[in-house]
Amino acid sequence: MTSSTKAMKPILLTGCILAAAGLSVQWQPATAQSNGEIARASFNEDGQVMRPENWRSWVFVGAPLTPNALNGGEAAFPEYHNVYIEPSAFAHWQRTGQWADGTQLAKELTLLLQDGTCETDPDNGSCGQTSGQGYFQGEFSGLELKVKDTTRYADEPGNWAYFSFGHHAPPYAETAAAFPTDSCNSCHEGNAADDFVFTQYYPVLRAAKPSN
Ligand code: HEC
Repeated sequence: MTSSTKAMKPILLTGCILAAAGLSVQWQPATAQSNGEIARASFNEDGQVMRPENWRSWVFVGAPLTPNALNGGEAAFPEYHNVYIEPSAFAHWQRTGQWADGTQLAKELTLLLQDGTCETDPDNGSCGQTSGQGYFQGEFSGLELKVKDTTRYADEPGNWAYFSFGHHAPPYAETAAAFPTDSCNSCHEGNAADDFVFTQYYPVLRAAKPSN
């Protein structure tokens, strides 16, 4: 064994320790989740919710689409509806099949791709791309959020409140006031499969729900 090989050992060992330390840092959120802590939304002093900072890093659960061309030209939301759930709330759902107090779900809209690379079919709004004729996501066009909070929204059905940071291209508003119950919550209450959330359209949430 040469002296240079001996010298490598401590370096390698240090590298391993650092790697292990790096891993444990990465796993911290999972530890917090297994403790059942829910990352909650922030509110300003007027009771308006603050726009989440990183919703595109949350768990992506589904993308319903209701194009104008299939809705007489008047779809309420003619875009893709990309739905995300905050990761600690997702972990709670996986364990219990329930929405924890503090659960946040975001819905970000994206327009159909219209970048001049295809001609939109007026009958159905589809366009042809590399993978075939169909529907493709273009630019961001709006952001909504719903929050379950048993204290703050004790009087709301299901304790859910609903917010919009704008139905337009970013930048989105930084804060939003809760909508009246009839504007949003009533439709969710009557039609959503799992406690006001439309899991019937989100395969990721259906697959994650415990069976017992
Ligand atoms: C007429 C019924 C209806 C009304 C009114 C309604 N929604 Fe929804 N919402 C849906 C449906 C259906 C979905 C499932 C995904 C999709 O198709 O966009 C959904 C999904 C969502 C989601 C994703 C999480 C979930 O619960 O599935 C959010 C967030 C949301 N809506 C916010 C709002 C906000 C904010 C309002 C009020 C401005 C609102 N909704 C009003 C029908 C409705």
